Amino acid sequence: MGKMTRKISKVAEKIFSIKNCGDHKNIKIFGRDIFKFNRNISIKDRLILKFEPSLYVGISDGLTLQLSFSNICNCKCKFCCEQNIVYSKEKEDVIPDKWLYEDFLVLYPRTNHLVPTYGEITVSKKSYEFLSYINKNYPEINVSTETNGIAFCEKWAKLASENLMRINFSLNAINESKYRETVWNQRDIFPLIMNNLDNYCRILKEDGKFAFKPSASMVVNESNYQTIVDFIKLCLKKELQIIVFLMDIKLFSSDCPNNNFLYDTFITLMKIEKLIKDRVFLNYKLFVPVKDLSKLQDIVDKTCMEDLRNEYSDIVSMVKNFKTLHEIHNERSLIRKNLKKKPYSYREELSGTTFHQKTYHGKMICENPWTHLRLRPNGDSAPCSWFPYKESQNVKNYMKNNLIDFNAYFNNNYRKLLRLNFKRHKYFDCMYNCPASKDRYGKNF
Ligand SMILES: C[S@@+](CC[C@H](N)C(=O)[O-])C[C@H]1O[C@@H](n2cnc3c(N)ncnc32)[C@H](O)[C@@H]1O
Ligand code: SF4
Ligand code: SF4
Repeated sequence: MGKMTRKISKVAEKIFSIKNCGDHKNIKIFGRDIFKFNRNISIKDRLILKFEPSLYVGISDGLTLQLSFSNICNCKCKFCCEQNIVYSKEKEDVIPDKWLYEDFLVLYPRTNHLVPTYGEITVSKKSYEFLSYINKNYPEINVSTETNGIAFCEKWAKLASENLMRINFSLNAINESKYRETVWNQRDIFPLIMNNLDNYCRILKEDGKFAFKPSASMVVNESNYQTIVDFIKLCLKKELQIIVFLMDIKLFSSDCPNNNFLYDTFITLMKIEKLIKDRVFLNYKLFVPVKDLSKLQDIVDKTCMEDLRNEYSDIVSMVKNFKTLHEIHNERSLIRKNLKKKPYSYREELSGTTFHQKTYHGKMICENPWTHLRLRPNGDSAPCSWFPYKESQNVKNYMKNNLIDFNAYFNNNYRKLLRLNFKRHKYFDCMYNCPASKDRYGKNF
């Protein structure tokens, strides 16, 4: 290019330019952004987003509000996947009061499910106050949360029982020595957690609400996978009927190539699931870092029940007097109805906080782009726990009259495009093997 041509093109660029900027193409006139569009969206889809009325949903009913409430914690789990966890109240990064008590007021009447999570809810200075406020003013909302159990004292147990909360105890170990080896090397923590769990179960029993017994979970990695069967037995001894195994997120990383133990782990869980699935829900098909889970399932499907009963006879006898999961769900539904809680389906009851599906043209699709809001204290948001946070989805970008404009937020192009793609069974950006994207996963949800 000659000198003159370069000069002319520079001047022309100052007047008018189209540039790639991350996902977007920017059209500038006289250096100012005039138009910005996502270059990964076809022209046809752009027109659909603009003109298809069904993609506009206002603020849907049946919302799940998953609040990354506070980053404070009282435990130092070796495997913790959360970033920015702090241990002193001065450094706590908590959702602003203005959001909880003003901006979100438009959401609460449409919320079915509130999920405060992130650090340790029981040590956050505002969480008890906030959940008491919800219990008093919006008792119809179903609340679920997770705790490491260390500070789940009588006052939390009573609030949880009164509100019919779904509580998950992240026990993560079968006894104190394993706890100190694989979770946190601190004396007397595990017995304290078990004591709090026992007290909570006692209070639920006294209140006639033992159907709302907590679930318990364990993060599985190479340090503890041999203990999964004992972990199940420990939970069954406490009469718990939902047991969650979370595969350590680090197993997804390429620095951790030795994941072969996972095949045995999954086979064992599938076998026990096959034996006791009417009475105990083993929730382990999350974050599945193996490709051919359905092949493993086929192997287990072919095993003879009699052989399994012999292999796990102690487990079979531990559950024989348990109510079935359907009976538990019916009992919970009745108690919820009497206390005017919003209904909760059997599927939701079991599958946890992030799986919500709906029927579309006779097939199940994930409902999250319609109804799920995951929110961090800094305003970053996502339609699911397993989704990347995008800069454009920070709720502070949607302010109107000093309040978050949730109508504009839920109907922005990103949300609309996800709705469009999910209707087409296209789950870009979704978690590998996600049970909610059923057509990717196969038959085993
Ligand atoms: C980050 S914690 C926050 C709630 C609470 N502090 C607790 O531990 O239950 C939420 C859940 O993530 C699980 N978790 C933590 N680190 C994990 C990891 N590396 N992989 C998978 N799950 C993990 C915890 O066991 C817990 O059940
Ligand atoms: S208790 Fe929960 S938040 Fe705290 S370190 Fe353990 S996993 Fe992380
Ligand atoms: S399908 Fe996608 S949005 Fe739905 S739960 Fe799975 S990862 Fe989340």
